[in-house]
Amino acid sequence: MDKLVIEGGTPLRGEVRISGAKNAALPLLFATLLHEGPSHIANLPRLQDVRTTLNLLIELGVGVRRSDDGTAVLDAANLLSHEAPYDLVRRMRASVLCLGPLLARNGHARVSLPGGCAIGARPIDLHLQGLEALGATIELAGGYVEATAPRGGLVGGRVLFDQVTVGGTENLMMAAATAQGKTTLENCAREPEISDLAMALRSMGAQITGDGTSIIEIEGIPKLGPMKHTVVPDRIEAGTYMAAAAITRGDVKLVGARLEHLDSLISKMAQAGVEVRREGNGLRVRHHGELHAVDVQTRPYPGFPTDLQAQFMALMTVAQGSSTVTESVFEKRFMHVPELNRMGADIQTKDRTAFVRGVESLHGAKVMATDLRASATLVIGGLAAQGRTEVLRVYHLDRGYEAIEEKIGALGGVIRRVPQDWEDD
Ligand code: EPZ
Repeated sequence: MDKLVIEGGTPLRGEVRISGAKNAALPLLFATLLHEGPSHIANLPRLQDVRTTLNLLIELGVGVRRSDDGTAVLDAANLLSHEAPYDLVRRMRASVLCLGPLLARNGHARVSLPGGCAIGARPIDLHLQGLEALGATIELAGGYVEATAPRGGLVGGRVLFDQVTVGGTENLMMAAATAQGKTTLENCAREPEISDLAMALRSMGAQITGDGTSIIEIEGIPKLGPMKHTVVPDRIEAGTYMAAAAITRGDVKLVGARLEHLDSLISKMAQAGVEVRREGNGLRVRHHGELHAVDVQTRPYPGFPTDLQAQFMALMTVAQGSSTVTESVFEKRFMHVPELNRMGADIQTKDRTAFVRGVESLHGAKVMATDLRASATLVIGGLAAQGRTEVLRVYHLDRGYEAIEEKIGALGGVIRRVPQDWEDD
């Protein structure tokens, strides 16, 4: 296992290219199962979760050819299996996104239940209820979901999600694309990654409207053609570097970042005193002087993203004054709090709210990564802290951040990746 060793205190300056979005790339890769032939995807990020997804697709019989320029050709002409095994799903819950496409393509899917993870129980009951509304039979046996479509295939219907679910919306969009007749999905997720998937499905011939709003309508068609799509830039990666630029009082250009995908974060940053503005083909983040304490509450998009909650909290640990950070999406997404407190932060939590009292400065410490975004937050803290920070178990970071030490190093951050010592475990 590796760790990242960071010497804090250097303002980040320069340009960083934002990679393709992890949370768009994963559903897009699964959507290629819907076409019986080759599909082309560009701007795929180099991430562990993308590699895990490609390995699962290969197990299912998809031919994968990947180039150095971030493009990939996936050929789903001959599927060999309709099963997503536990040892793959437990490592990456997004594997459940193969459920809708396999059911639509094969009429059958056997997918391991993902189980909980560091940030919560994360059930998939809403995915399953939605597929039943399209005529699927769902059985749970031995920790697996056995889904079977009616003999003539899935049938369009009305799905009302009890609560907003990104994965549920994505699974149902993919399942409904070739169902017979019309499907209406209500109370849908509105994330940019949903619209990116809809755009990719439309490139395959799917008839989808309303993506980006809470009501999506899909007219099923018998067959989908090849996907040809470029992955949207990663707004969460962009927001992560925005926080790193702000906390180090730097000046960074986020090449490829889209202002309209980061409205809620940018308005909170402005309240905190951080200037963010559009510049050419990206965003420019500059900060000097004090940070003001600002309260945030995470919400489904376009609300403040839960995936940026930890990163913004890191910023608030050194702001002037006290702030509250409320996590409304997941039941336990404060794994970063004890680690930030070990770096000298002053954070108390009660239920889903963290009470952050700003301190003068953080100080370096040896800290443990737990989940993807909590790990990024420890890096942000380390870049601002006085002295050395060691972030252990960096594999969490590699799931969702492409070449993080190269990108931070190119901005002047003092960071290196080294093997963990045996006593670090
Ligand atoms: C997606 O997860 C993202 N992952 C998550 O990003 C992100 O945090 C989350 O959406 C919310 O924005 C990918 O896109 C691969 P949900 P997903 O279904 O789809 C509950 C990251 O760091 N729920 O929108 O799993 C669920 O427990 C990751 O990149 C049900 O109860 O999230 C949660 O409390 C972390 N039943 C809430 O809904 C269901 O059937 C939102 O979950 C489905 C969800």
